[in-house]
Amino acid sequence: MDKVSLLQQKTAEALKGGGDKRVESQHKKGKLTARERIQLLLDEGSFEEIGMFVSHRSRDFGMEKEVYLGDGVITGYGTIHGRLVYVYSQDFTVFGGSLSETHAEKICKIMDLAMENGAPVIGLNDSGGARIQEGVVSLGGYADIFHRNVKSSGVIPQISAIMGPCAGGAVYSPAITDFILMVEHTSYMFVTGPNVVKTVTHENVTSEELGGAHTHASKSGVTHFACANEVECIENIKRLLSYIPQNCEENAPVYTYEAADEARKKLDSIIPDNPNQPYDIKEVIEEVVDADSFMEVHKEYAENIVVGFARIAGRSVGIVANQPASLAGVLDINASKKGARFVRFCDAFNVPLLVLVDVPGFLPGTDQEWHGIITNGAKLLYALSEATVPKITVITRKAYGGAYDVMNSKHIGADMNYAWPTAEIAVMGAKGAAEIIFKKEIAEAADHDAKWKEKEMEYTEKFANPYGAAARGFIDEVILPSETRAKLIKAYNMLQNKVVNTPKRKHGNIPL
Ligand code: HXC
Repeated sequence: MDKVSLLQQKTAEALKGGGDKRVESQHKKGKLTARERIQLLLDEGSFEEIGMFVSHRSRDFGMEKEVYLGDGVITGYGTIHGRLVYVYSQDFTVFGGSLSETHAEKICKIMDLAMENGAPVIGLNDSGGARIQEGVVSLGGYADIFHRNVKSSGVIPQISAIMGPCAGGAVYSPAITDFILMVEHTSYMFVTGPNVVKTVTHENVTSEELGGAHTHASKSGVTHFACANEVECIENIKRLLSYIPQNCEENAPVYTYEAADEARKKLDSIIPDNPNQPYDIKEVIEEVVDADSFMEVHKEYAENIVVGFARIAGRSVGIVANQPASLAGVLDINASKKGARFVRFCDAFNVPLLVLVDVPGFLPGTDQEWHGIITNGAKLLYALSEATVPKITVITRKAYGGAYDVMNSKHIGADMNYAWPTAEIAVMGAKGAAEIIFKKEIAEAADHDAKWKEKEMEYTEKFANPYGAAARGFIDEVILPSETRAKLIKAYNMLQNKVVNTPKRKHGNIPL
């Protein structure tokens, strides 16, 4: 065979993956192949493959007779909307996408290139975990990847799509990356599958219940996005990248934006007259950001806090907002963890923050205390306090107690703090406050209830407004809701060159 034909033959062999039958089976499950996924993800014709002919070195269990070129993972680089990315895509048709020594080496090679060249890594995961026939070298391969994930954390964005059953080692690399996306009904993540669970804990649970997209989106919070199908998943990856920079030393791309009338009259009537009545904070978000630019992250998890990316006048912002429409917007353990993780990503990658506040306080109760609301609640406080990106706060209504401090108050380093006239900034709600500080007067009054009501009103008048905080400069300006967007555009513009020098240290010690 001449040399060119040999190359063509080898290329054709590599492109076949695990063979037609297994490809057909992959399609029958509603899944795309590893190469089809890369084609959908990257700009047309931009993919450059690295290591197409890599094959495993295993000689046990007859493995020497079963060799597939590429060894179950396709790796390389290309562009998304013209921007460089590195990608690996596991091929389930080759040993179930399981990770061998050489499979791991291929992934490590592109991770190293990504770090050296400052560009994101996208992993399309579809893997049965460690290649069982290889034993410890496969475990070593996983650890080599984990170590690189950690070293890359906060330097280049790392995104993991879960597009098949991912068990054992296959879940820990995604867990260290910045964002996880799962596909409903065809992807699973668990450390041990339903069979092991049954043996150890005697629980009967399906793969879907144990580790499906919905479970991880709503119960565990492991995944940031649950996507209806693989195409939606890949579209979400591309959209996500549009809000974030290539690496920690760059800024996110700026989109063109035509200045227009920025008044948003709808916001002037969004806060209900009754302060205990909920409203949807997402309506506020939609009004203040550029049209259709809000991309919610962790949508189904801890719905009492809303986080996500958007653009204001073409520039990326990360939004953290209490949601009065869920548990009155209270801060609990999950909300704090969700908020903190998002804030730390934004801060690591130079995405300015917008914090919208309507929070009655921290959630009381034994469940929260025993599960560590103290340590966990401190995560959000720590993350916002530590962040040095431009930070702007808008208090729409309640800002009570410790939650006032936590939610990007002036005291923990916010650059601009706005409040709407409906803001209530106080240590606690008027009813509870009156009961404590006027206990004696209420007890001695002929009509206890009337006295209590009177004192409640007195406290409300004094504290349930933004002016006490504005008098001390804790609030920079009390603004009409309709003015919010215009104020934010100017303020982010003013803050765009913000520089904060932090003292030298190895790293902080966030309460994990
Ligand atoms: C080698 C594997 C494999 C593995 C699957 N295959 N997993 N080969 N090592 N880990 C092969 C199968 O032999 C089969 O080969 C093909 O992939 C497809 O697998 P099926 O079982 O037919 O597919 P399906 O029914 O869809 O089930 C997929 C699956 C199941 C759920 C992933 O295969 C499975 O449970 N695999 C084992 C998972 C596991 O326990 N992994 C080790 C985890 S321990 P043929 O030739 O028939 O196509 C681990 C330790 C690392 O990862 C820890 C680091 C922290």
